[in-house]
Parts: sequence; structure tokens; C-alpha cells
Amino acid sequence: METTKAVKARDSFTTGIGVIAATLGSAVGLGNIWKFPALAGLNGGAAFIIIYLLSTLMAGLPVMIAELMIGRRSRSDALTTFRVLHPKNETWSLIGAAGVLAAFLILAFYTEVAGWVFAYIFKAASGSVLSTDPQVTSAAFVKLISDPVQSIFWQCFVLIFVGAIIVAGVSKGIEKTTKRLMPVLFLILVMIGVRSLMLPGAAQGLDFLFRPDFSKVTGAVVLTAMGLAFFKLSVGMGTMITYGSYFREDQNIPLTALRVMLADLTVSILAGIAIFPAVFTYGFKPEAGPSLLFITIPAVFSQMPFGNLFVVLFFVLGAIASTGAMLSIMEVPVAYLHQRFAFTRFKATALTVVLLALIGSTAALSNSVLADFKVFGLTMFDLYDFVTSNVLMPVGGLFICIFVGWVWGEEKVRAALSNDGALQNSAMISVFFFIVKYVAPLTIIVILLRGLKII
Ligand code: PHE
Repeated sequence: METTKAVKARDSFTTGIGVIAATLGSAVGLGNIWKFPALAGLNGGAAFIIIYLLSTLMAGLPVMIAELMIGRRSRSDALTTFRVLHPKNETWSLIGAAGVLAAFLILAFYTEVAGWVFAYIFKAASGSVLSTDPQVTSAAFVKLISDPVQSIFWQCFVLIFVGAIIVAGVSKGIEKTTKRLMPVLFLILVMIGVRSLMLPGAAQGLDFLFRPDFSKVTGAVVLTAMGLAFFKLSVGMGTMITYGSYFREDQNIPLTALRVMLADLTVSILAGIAIFPAVFTYGFKPEAGPSLLFITIPAVFSQMPFGNLFVVLFFVLGAIASTGAMLSIMEVPVAYLHQRFAFTRFKATALTVVLLALIGSTAALSNSVLADFKVFGLTMFDLYDFVTSNVLMPVGGLFICIFVGWVWGEEKVRAALSNDGALQNSAMISVFFFIVKYVAPLTIIVILLRGLKII
């Protein structure tokens, strides 16, 4: 059979650990250390975290299971999956097309932030961005982001770095890299967390992180929390469909997704524990937003003994986290081009990287040459960020739920998630199916319409 040949010829993850490393590597990223603490800080600490958690349970996690499941069934990229599973109606593959678009838009700004992170490893090591005075660290950050040459340089550096790993393939590139990096990431994070907890402001920091203040919660905040839930688990745009297509047949998908979700949440909380005690100890404001990572962290950490070392470690952590995530985003268009047009991986990756350098430059120049170029009042950088997390990913997730719950149907879902009867998880599948069919779509629709002020 032709499909069997195609399956055999396809590269895929080789071990159970490799599957977890790659999938967790995708989930863990700048979302945990750049977005999560900043957004929690801005939107009421624990109140935001609670809404984020509820969105994860009611929408993010179910969509993740759904994506991995259809990806593995079709053994195809994000677009072709829908054609393979439902050949009668081509329209469904628009979900995959929107996913490929989202992948480009996310990478356009993500590679820029990752570029700053990579740059900061060198700058922190040489001491040029370190100071106990936030005015100085702020000036250093502004100098970097408002310099068009440096901005473009670091973005291209990151694109080529990630592209080089992608070219090596799914098992030899993505799986091998993430398997090595994930343990290092946990180790560094725990080290910084422990160090931070020894500071005098630890109690205050934890209090902020764990005591909810609901006065800041609005419709827009709820949408931001749900957007973060999608962004964090890399769902709603085809990444998990693509990775699912590399999963082993005997992998327990719901259990894997649950483990990845819990590990990812642990990383976010640990990042909060690493950051907030230090912020309170040295009298900084927790609501510094996105600048927390680049302005507050260097200033805060510089004050503590061996602080400089911890700043460098912090950015190494960021670089590791962002690499696993970027690999998974770039794999979406690369897998598509490879399967659909039979491009070699090299050609597919090269094309993707060049396109990304072009689109990405509009985000990279958002703080310099293109600072005044705004759409809906947002710079290109902010626009790509907003549109992907708050529109494309939730809408993508919504249609994936509708496809799985209402089109593909319960019988196929049962077969796929029980590994064709090998797993005894029928009660769990019932819960999953109910959520995917009713709870998740309703939740997404209501939050989207409220958040975008349509109702
Ligand atoms: N989950 C990644 C993070 O938190 C970002 C990401 C989004 C990765 C979409 C893949 C797809 O940084």
C-alpha cells in the first residue's frame, strides 16, 4: 500500500523519552519566562493564573490531545491531515493553512525576542548590560532594540541556528537536541529558584504569585489568559498535529499531553518563583510587563551575591527554552513543504528561513525604523503577538474541536486514543470527548467574543 510506504519513509521520534522531550520542548519556551511572569504581574497575579489554569483544562489541554491524535492518525503535516482524515470536504484543511500562517507570524516576533535573549547571554557575560540601576539596564535594552542592525543580526542568527537543527531532521535534529537540553533547563531553573527563595523578599514574592487579586480581571484579561493557554501548549496552529504525526503508535497520547501540561506549568511557576522574590527584595514593581525579563532581571539579579553569574544563567535558560519552541514552530511549514511539494528538508527549511527573515524584519524593526508604522494602533511586533495568541490560535483550536467532536466523531476518537483497544482508558476518553464536543468550543466562543468586545 502506498500509505504504508510513506509511513515507513517518514522520519519520526524514536523513543518514548524522545517524544516527551520534543513535545515538552515545544511547550516550554519564552511563554514561561517572558510572557507568563509578565502577564501575571500585570493582571492580578494568582487571579490571572487561576483563569489561565481553567482555560488550560477546558480548552488548551483538550485541543492538544485532539491535535496529537489526528496528527498520528493521518501521519501528515498540519494541512494534509484534514485532507487525509476527511477527503470529502477540502475546506477543513483551511485550519491547517491558518496554522501555517500563524507559524510564520509567531516566529516573526518570537525569533526577535529569542534574538535579544541570545544577545543578552553575551552582553551579560561581558557585563555590558549589568547594573543595579534599572535606568542603566533600561537604557542598555533600549539601545539594543532600537538598533536596526543589531536587531536584524540577532534575529537572523537565531533563524539560521534553528534552521540548521531542523535540516538535520526529526529524530537526529529535533529529538536529539531537545533530549539533551530539557534536563539542563530544569537544572538551571531549580538553581535560580532556590537562590531566589533564599532572599529576604521571598515571602512577599510568593504571596504575590499565589494570592489572587480579581479586581484587575476584565474580558480582555480573560482572553489574554486563554491566549496564553494556547500559546503555552503550542496548540491551535498545527504544531501538535505535526508533532503527533511523528508519535509512536504505542504512545499513550492523553497521558503524554497531561504530563507535558503539568511539566510546563511547573516551569512557569518555577520561573515565577525565580523572578518575583528577587523583584520584591530589591523594591522593584512586579507589573513591569515584557520588560521584566530584559530590564528588571539584570538589575535585580546584579544586586545579589554571584548575581552576574545568575543573569548569564537566566539567559542561557531562555535560549534553551526558546530553541525547543522555535524548532516546533518552524517544523510546521517545513513538514508541509516537504510532504506537499516533495521539497528536500534542506530546500523546505531554506525557503522558510528566507521568508521568515523577510516577515520577521518587520517585527525586528518595530522599535526603530518602523516604530511609527502601526495597524490598529499596534506595531508589527505587537500585532503579530496579539493576532496569533488572541485570535488565530483560539479560532484554530475552536475549529479543531468542531472537526474532532462533530465531524470525525466519537467512534474514531475512541479507536485513536485507546491505541485501537490496547489501552483501557474508556472513561477518560468519554470525559475528553464531552469536553471537546461541547465545553471547549463554548468556552472559546464566549471568551473570544467577550475579549474582543463583540458581545
Ligand atoms: N509554547 C511556546 C512557548 O511557550 C510557544 C509556541 C507557540 C510554540 C506555538 C509552538 C507553537 O514559548
